[in-house]
Amino acid sequence: MTANAEARNQNPGSDAAYRVLNAADLEGARGMRAFALDVLNGLSETPKRLSSRWIYDEHGSELFSRICEIDEYYPTRCEAEILRNHAPDILKRAGTDALDIVDLGAGDGRKTNIVLDRALKQVKDVRYVPIDISESAMAGLVAATGQKFPALKFSGIVAEYFDGLHWLSSTDDRKNLVLFLGSNIGNFNKVQARVFLRQLWEALNHGDQVLIGFDLKKDIELLLAAYNDAQGVTAAFNKNLLKRINRELGGNFDMSAYRHYATYDVFTGAVESYIVSLKQQRVTIRDLQSSFDFDEWEPIHTEYSYKYLQKDIDALASGTGFKIIEQYYDNNGWFTDSLWQVEKQSV
Ligand code: AVI
Repeated sequence: MTANAEARNQNPGSDAAYRVLNAADLEGARGMRAFALDVLNGLSETPKRLSSRWIYDEHGSELFSRICEIDEYYPTRCEAEILRNHAPDILKRAGTDALDIVDLGAGDGRKTNIVLDRALKQVKDVRYVPIDISESAMAGLVAATGQKFPALKFSGIVAEYFDGLHWLSSTDDRKNLVLFLGSNIGNFNKVQARVFLRQLWEALNHGDQVLIGFDLKKDIELLLAAYNDAQGVTAAFNKNLLKRINRELGGNFDMSAYRHYATYDVFTGAVESYIVSLKQQRVTIRDLQSSFDFDEWEPIHTEYSYKYLQKDIDALASGTGFKIIEQYYDNNGWFTDSLWQVEKQSV
C-alpha cells in the first residue's frame, strides 16, 4: 500500500492524506476520558475527593445560575454592584482607543455585560474576546451577546485559556483587559492560584491589564449561610457530581443516602464543601468497572472556596509579576475586584 493510501485509510470517508483534529473534534472524547479518570482516582483515595470542575454540566451550570440569584449567596450581587459603580473608571484606566476585553469563564455573561455595555459607550474600538474550551458554550455566547449588543465586535476563541491568550497576544498588539470574575480564583488553592496567575502573566504583554474578583474574609456566619442556603440549591449543585456520575458513567449512587455539608476552615481561609455518606454502602460505577465502599459519615471532598485578605492579594500580585492599579469594593466591603497591570522589563 502507498503511504497516501495508508494515510487515507486512517481517515475513512476523506480524500485528505491526514487529518488534524481540532478542539471541537477532541472536546467530547477527551472530556469524558478525563472525567472517568478523575472519578476513578478521586474515589480510590483516602480521604475521597471529586473535583468541583465536574459539577458544571448543563444541569450544574443551571443550578449555579440559580445560586447566583439567592439571597444568601452574596458574591454575585456584590460584584455586580462593583461593576455597575466602577466600570467607567476600570475602562478609563485600560485606555479608550482600541481594547480587547478578554473573558475567561464568561458563564451566563451577566456580569460581563455590565462591562461591555459601558465599553461600547466609552471605548472607540472595542472587541469582545471570550475564551472557552467548549464550542457549544461559545456558540451560546455568540447568540446571546449578538442579541444584546448587535454593534459589538465579537471574536471568540475556542481553546484552553492559555493557548488562546498566547495566540491572541502573538497575532496582534491590541491592548488586553482580561476579566477573571466571580471569585473563580477562590476555587484554586494558594499554589494553584500562583501558578495560574504566573501563566496568565506569561501569556500577556507588558501593560495589559487583568480584573480579578476575590471574595474577602468576613463574618463566618455569612460565609456558612452562602454555602448552605435554606432552599437547598447549593446542596443540589454539589450533589450534581453524583448525579452526573450516575448519568454519564453508569454509577448507582443512591442520591437520598448522601448529604451536602459545607464548613469554613479559619486557618486556611477556605469554605470546604463535602458530600457525606449517610450510611455504610457500596457504589458501583459500570464504565469504571469498579466499586467503592463508603462508611457511615464518610465524606467526599468536592470544593474549596478560598477567601482573601487584602494583604494576600497584594502578595499574590507582586509575587506573580503584576502591579495593582486599583482596588474596587462593594459598599459592605465583602468582595473586591482588583485591577492589575502586567509588568515586564524590556531586555
Ligand atoms: C464558581 N465559584 C466561584 C463558586 C464559589 O463560590 O466557590 C462555586 C460555588 N460553590 C458553591 N456555591 C457556589
